[in-house]
Amino acid sequence: MNILMIGCGKMGGALLKSWIKSGDDYTIVDPGLESAPDGAKLVKSKADLADSRFDVIVVAIKPQMIDDILPAYSDMLIEDGYLLSIAAGCSIARLKKAFDDQPVVRVMPNLPAAIGQGVSGICPGPDAGDAHVTHARALMEHAGSVVVLDDEDALDRFTAIAGSGPGYVFELARTYVAAAMELGFEEAEAREMVLGTLAGTVAMAKQGDEPLEELRDSVTSKNGTTAAGLDALNGGGDLDRLLQAATRAAYDRAVEMR
Ligand SMILES: NC(=O)c1ccc[n+]([C@@H]2O[C@H](COP(=O)([O-])OP(=O)(O)OC[C@H]3O[C@@H](n4cnc5c(N)ncnc54)[C@H](OP(=O)(O)O)[C@@H]3O)[C@@H](O)[C@H]2O)c1
Repeated sequence: MNILMIGCGKMGGALLKSWIKSGDDYTIVDPGLESAPDGAKLVKSKADLADSRFDVIVVAIKPQMIDDILPAYSDMLIEDGYLLSIAAGCSIARLKKAFDDQPVVRVMPNLPAAIGQGVSGICPGPDAGDAHVTHARALMEHAGSVVVLDDEDALDRFTAIAGSGPGYVFELARTYVAAAMELGFEEAEAREMVLGTLAGTVAMAKQGDEPLEELRDSVTSKNGTTAAGLDALNGGGDLDRLLQAATRAAYDRAVEMR
């Protein structure tokens, strides 16, 4: 497939590193890039593309630029092609309006896509065909796992959990490291212990499908150290309330941005 990516900054560049393995041909338009990313062709502006046509056009510019920049590319898609947008908070209706009503698939990647371990939500527009969804899914699977969502409300809920999720996890890790330092460890030691514990625990949970409560209970002896820690952490349900408030706030913000 012949794929055009408009904008190749932090997220576009991260995805491209994984996508290059797909065997598709990539052309990038980005006026700010000095050199072409490995395996892709770089042009500085639409004028450099002459009358080229593409199977897929990927929108990876900032959402506020879309209405101005996207319409100029609407004649560059082949007849069965589609637009794949990673722009946060830019609705399918807005994308179709800026792109001559052609088929759209909206995607929300998250940051670990940069190392091939992301979780991406895919939301097909009303006239996106099975072939478009299958291709978008295969592309995103190069960057991690994929959840196909029924509508844009589900994509906003996905954003509140997985799109914003790396922010919550970094913050959790930061406070965990700070707590380890409070107990007397140096920062480097604390970071090693906390990130190692998080990574190992998550890897174990992913190996099987035991309920998370069972896994938690399997490391919690009655009156032991973990029981004491867990009682202080969530004995009164404070952690449940905090995470519900965090994900609800992120979802409400996504709805406001629609
Ligand atoms: N970063 C994330 O974690 C994340 C997660 C999910 C979704 N997204 C979405 O991904 C999109 C890109 O975000 P980002 O964080 O990657 O932003 P970014 O780093 O600013 O990337 C945007 C790129 O577009 C370039 N650009 C500016 N004008 C252009 C034009 N006329 N034609 C082509 N390219 C142009 C920019 O160049 P200059 O820098 O020179 O202006 C920049 O390299 C956004 O819509 C965002 O909502 C990002």
